[in-house]
Amino acid sequence: MASSSTTVTITGAGGQIGYALLFRIAAGDMLGADRPIRLRLLEIPQGLRAAEGAALELQDCAFPLLRDVEITDDPAVAFDGCSIALLVGARPRGPGMERADLLAANAGIFGPQGAAIAATAAADVRVTVVGNPANTNALIAAASARGVPADRFTALTRLDHNRAVGQLAAFLDVAPGEIADVIIWGNHSATQFPDVAHAILPDGMPVVEAIAARVGGPEAAIAWLDEVFVPRVARRGAEIIEVRGSSSVASAANAAIDHVRDEQLGTHRGMTSAAVVSRGEYGVPEGLVCSFPVTSDGSGYRVVKGLDLDDRSRARFEASVAELVAERDAVRELGAV
Ligand code: NAD
Ligand code: LMR
Repeated sequence: MASSSTTVTITGAGGQIGYALLFRIAAGDMLGADRPIRLRLLEIPQGLRAAEGAALELQDCAFPLLRDVEITDDPAVAFDGCSIALLVGARPRGPGMERADLLAANAGIFGPQGAAIAATAAADVRVTVVGNPANTNALIAAASARGVPADRFTALTRLDHNRAVGQLAAFLDVAPGEIADVIIWGNHSATQFPDVAHAILPDGMPVVEAIAARVGGPEAAIAWLDEVFVPRVARRGAEIIEVRGSSSVASAANAAIDHVRDEQLGTHRGMTSAAVVSRGEYGVPEGLVCSFPVTSDGSGYRVVKGLDLDDRSRARFEASVAELVAERDAVRELGAV
């Protein structure tokens, strides 16, 4: 049984997603029931009281795995000795904004945090960026973390992945756990491409065939995917903002926990989706933080190579990669990478 504690740093811990994350992490949902945890909560001065309130409640839960909680507005203190960092703190978008509108506002946050991670985190640190625009914020943090291998930085597209699974499960009237090998390609934005071409049900039946059986044939299945499924998943974040009045919280925290758990403990059934640093896979320019199909054996995500993309799918993926290139170029102009 593992007994040494793992230091987990959460930025923006006084915010909405922070509040939804802290209690599940402390309960063992992310690293398992045998890993004691030390929490480091980073906030800006205005957010410290909210983080302090959450810490009082953490104490009142008496979680058996939770060793201690430290709250600070100093990144050097927050990342000191941390093995897992969840970079959540950022400005969320409001109604009518695209995630890319947040680039300039958030570029100034992720550079200094990357530098602090390089200076003070544990040698085995792995970083998950949740704050939007997540892919490009991860690019900025990785570029600023001299000496930390870039592949330690990933960004969250697991929420999009889970949304895609949720939509398919509802449409096909199956349990979400029965659907494997959905893929999110590209950016965590409206250009992302949720791809079901490789997705299967437990009996090995391709999901595309199951859709065709419901809608009356292969052409109708393509129409449903193009006109209903893809836009629904790609715009789900905006739908949540419209309906709730603010961006997704519990589902985002849940996806972040899924992402880190699978990265740290391994994927078990098939592949999942995560935005990782491209090494040129599928023609994506090296260094971009792009969502791919991935697996993990517990030592970090690896891109699943060699999957077929037909011309239409490739065009969609390339459009999303072009957006990532434009975001990278924009933050280059800001001097952030
Ligand atoms: P929120 O406004 O409730 O919380 C953000 C917190 O971050 C605030 O408490 C704020 O004080 C803090 N903060 C701001 N700058 C900081 C800094 N430099 N260091 C430390 N803390 C800082 O927002 P939220 O709803 O928790 O969302 C957080 C981020 O997550 C947003 O960018 C949102 O768009 C993003 N998000 C991403 C996904 C995804 O799937 N990738 C999903 C949902 C939300
Ligand atoms: C989401 O996908 O819910 C988040 O990225 C929040 C947003 O701005 O859409």
